[in-house]
Amino acid sequence: MTALERVEAVVSLHAALDRTVAPSELLFDEAALPPVTPEFVELPAPTPLPARDFPDILQARRSHYNPAQVALGIGELSNVLHHSLVSSPTAGGMRELTLSFVVSHPGHSLGAGVYRYIQEGRAEAVRPGDVQGNLRASLLQPEFVDVFPVLLFVVADVEAPLEKYAMRHYRTMHVDAGVLVQNLYLVTEAMGLVGCAIAGFTDARVASLLNLATTQLPVMAFALGRPS
Ligand SMILES: Cc1cc2nc3c(=O)[nH]c(=O)nc-3n(C[C@H](O)[C@H](O)[C@H](O)COP(=O)(O)O)c2cc1C
Repeated sequence: MTALERVEAVVSLHAALDRTVAPSELLFDEAALPPVTPEFVELPAPTPLPARDFPDILQARRSHYNPAQVALGIGELSNVLHHSLVSSPTAGGMRELTLSFVVSHPGHSLGAGVYRYIQEGRAEAVRPGDVQGNLRASLLQPEFVDVFPVLLFVVADVEAPLEKYAMRHYRTMHVDAGVLVQNLYLVTEAMGLVGCAIAGFTDARVASLLNLATTQLPVMAFALGRPS
């Protein structure tokens, strides 16, 4: 199999698996999505995590469903994105995972919309604007959007890994995503924030919302907020 054939096979396998779950009955209205922009936003440079004992963080970590109904600080968001990514190992050291995020309840310095995190202090403003309706229709539990100010999406770009590895690596990329999700939980807990992993979403809708390329597959989501 050529690398291109492996990529095509994995993309179509991912889509076939996605179709085994019925999407939300809420309307996903592609025409209502704000246009894609080529703009960038500056996030505050990440700062060190608060000094807390690892056993405390590990034992305190929980999934949360009722955060406070307040926005997240842009510095807090920058820290969660940075520390979760840089502390996550991946198979073969591949950098196939990225984090996109959707701000539903905007803070004073980051407007509502879809963003793609690049690295320390930098993100693409993919779709500035209100996407709450389409985000709700992308999830099997739309209530996450009502209560959490920010939803993160773990996106795997299959192109580079499948140039190097056999198709079986598709499985390993999900292990990489699981490692990142655990770090999202731990960093969130270390920072005194709350979150919840989310597997229940429709890939095709999320891909459209986040403006993903064909080889970029949404593999997990994580709701992020402040404790109530
Ligand atoms: C990979 C993964 C996917 C999950 N997906 C969802 C989800 O779609 N919806 C949800 O309500 N909780 C989801 N959760 C949260 C689990 O239900 C939760 O971790 C589990 O009940 C244990 O609770 P705890 O995290 O508080 O220890 C997910 C957790 C993991 C690790």
